[in-house]
Formats: sequence, structure tokens, C-alpha cells
Amino acid sequence: MANDESRISKGIANRAVAPAVLSGIRTPGECAEDTSPYSIRASSFFRHSTFGIRHLVNPMRILSGIQPSGPLHIGNYFGMMQPAIALQAEGEALYFIADYHALTTLRDAETLRVNSHRVALDFLACGLDPERATLFRHSDVPQVTELAWILSTVAPMGLLERATSYKDKLARGMSANVGLFSYPILMAADILIYDSDVVPVGKDQKQHIEITRDLAVKMNETFGQVFKLPEARIRAATETVPGIDGQKMSKSYGNNIDIFGDEKETRKRVMSIVTDSTPVEAPKDSERSTIVQLYSLFASKDELANMKERFKKGGTGYGDFKKELFEKLWEYLAPMRKRREEILRDKSYIDNVLARGAKHANEIANQVMQRVRAAVGLR
Ligand code: AMP
Ligand code: TRP
Repeated sequence: MANDESRISKGIANRAVAPAVLSGIRTPGECAEDTSPYSIRASSFFRHSTFGIRHLVNPMRILSGIQPSGPLHIGNYFGMMQPAIALQAEGEALYFIADYHALTTLRDAETLRVNSHRVALDFLACGLDPERATLFRHSDVPQVTELAWILSTVAPMGLLERATSYKDKLARGMSANVGLFSYPILMAADILIYDSDVVPVGKDQKQHIEITRDLAVKMNETFGQVFKLPEARIRAATETVPGIDGQKMSKSYGNNIDIFGDEKETRKRVMSIVTDSTPVEAPKDSERSTIVQLYSLFASKDELANMKERFKKGGTGYGDFKKELFEKLWEYLAPMRKRREEILRDKSYIDNVLARGAKHANEIANQVMQRVRAAVGLR
């Protein structure tokens, strides 16, 4: 799988979808790891007009989703949102609030509504540009549930039984509802219904994208060329952002530092990062330190090198390093907090963005569903 920054910023064109049948054209040298006969590639990306204006021609389509299951944290930001925001300049980006998915764990209607609105607000505040990217609510495209049903009819049980995120959730004591089990099928539908090329996500979603590809292959083998094969885009440096206890940052582990947490709470969380008991004067190991890992997300190269040097030298306590981390983090997030305040002043802004997004997402999904229904014999 592609997993470095250069791949994120490189415009890879692989969109060439004929309405009923997909014809395979491969871009030489691109996506070398993808050797599937089902993969569709086209070399056209930008066309230069006589006036020198770049037009997107068959741009790569980028898609990702985020669950509205609580406030967004810096693991979400560096693992998915920042790469997704960077990609909005590289092709046609579609990002959605995965409210159908959140239903597998959230059982309070008002909380779901509030969270969904808040995810839209936070994503926009972090830099999602609705003039470039389409932002919409999952449930505004209910056709995905139809596609999920169709995919479920070709999905082997074993494929889902092997899904680690399901097994993890069970291990953490969640009750096994069918929705939780078949979550990867709905996620596959989310991706395939937009003929997506690239899916920016954190590492924990890698297996879900592999399942998506398996299901697309299965459909293509059964019904002819129906789907393109999407590719996960995982940024190596931030594929798993650690939480304050050093494990993967996650709302459900309670080890999160939120992007828009208030100052006091954010400081408190940073100050409670778990460390070992090395005394102040002793040299410290920067390689395995959560403080350093988090600092590297916010600091410049020089600042990071300087902190690592002082770890090695000894004489500075973890508490002081944590204070530095907090200051850097707080300063880094300041422009986003400002933008968030601005968005909040316009009461109808978010609803308008989501309504426009829903319209565009539906246009694409309806086209793809026509192709799918025809392929399986429903029309
Ligand atoms: P979720 O909160 O599970 O909806 O995750 C939304 C996106 O953030 C997914 O692409 C995840 O892979 C990504 N993500 C969540 N937590 C982390 C983390 N600790 N490190 C990197 N990426 C993450
Ligand atoms: N499963 C993802 C998560 O928990 C959210 C998600 C749902 C998603 N559908 C998607 C991500 C489609 C990428 C593409 O983080």
C-alpha cells in the first residue's frame, strides 16, 4: 500500500469509468503495488487550456469518512484529516460524516445530531475547503445501504470474521450486533459508490480498505467489471498517533487530546502523559517517548532536534518537556480555533455546505448505482 507523504502530494490519475463497463487503462509507473487485473487507471489528469488554465480531466477521486462518535482528537487530525485536506487540491475530494456507522455504537438521537454537526464544523475549521471538496452526511446518500446489501450477498462470512476492528470491539466488551459485524461491508459501499481511487485513512482502517478491494473483486468476478479498486493512502509518519498513555489515541480508550478542547483541559491532558520514572538529571530515551512523538507533530525539525538533544543530555524533567509540548500544540491549533469561531458566527453556513455536498454526492452515487443495478439484474 502507498504510505508516504510524497504519494499524498502526487496527483495520481486513475479515473476512467465508462457508464456500463469499465475499461482498463494503466498509468505506467504509478501505483506499482497494485497489480490487480481489475484496477482501472487512466493517464489523463490535468489538461492545459489555450489560456494556460488547468482543468481537471478525470481527476483522481478521493474519499474518506469520519464517525461522529465524539469530539475529534489529534489522532484523527494527523492520521486522516490533515492528509485529506492536503489531497483536496489533488483531485475531486469527497468527505463525509459517517453517521450510519456511528449508529453501531451510539444510541442517543440528539447526541448523534449534535456530534454530526460538530464534526462538520471541526473539519471545516481544520481547513476543509467546501469550494474544493464535497462535505456531506453519510445518511444523505441512503443508496449506500442498498449497495451494502448487494455487497453482503457476495461477502464471505470468513472475510468479516477476520476483521480485527470487530474482534477488538468484542474484546473490549461491546455486544456483537449485526451492524458492528457487517460494518466493513457498509464501508466498502461508502467507497465503491463513488468510484473512489484513493482513501486517506489512519493505519487502523487499512484492513477495511483491503476488504473493500476483496468485495470489489468478488463483484467484478461475478458480474463483470462493475467497480474500480480503491487504494488506501496511509501517511507513514502519522499512521498511528499515540494517546496520553502511549497506546493508539482513541476516543474509546479515553487517552485522547481533542483538537478543540478548552485550554485548561488540554493542558491537563498533556501534563498527564504517561512517562517512566527517570529522574530529572538523568539522560532520557527520546525514541520511545510519547512526549517526543507528539511534539514531532507540531514542532519544526530544529525544535524537534533540540528537544531530542535535551532528552539525551539530562537535566530537564518530563514536566518541563510536557509544558513545551502543550505550548507548541496550543499555538499550532490557534488558527483553527479562530476559523471555528468565524464559522460559528454564520448560523446557516454548515447546513448550506452539507446540503450542497449531499446534492453532489447523490449525483455520483446515483450514476454508479444505475451501473450496479444493471450489472446484477435489478434493472
Ligand atoms: P474514527 O474516529 O475511528 O472515525 O477515525 C477517523 C479517522 O481517523 C480514520 O481514518 C482513522 O484511521 C483515523 N485515526 C483515528 N485515530 C487515529 C490515531 N490515533 N492515529 C492515526 N489515525 C487515527
Ligand atoms: N470506518 C472509518 C473509521 O472508523 C470511518 C469510515 C466509514 C470510512 N466509511 C468510510 C473511512 C469510508 C474511509 C472511507 O474511522
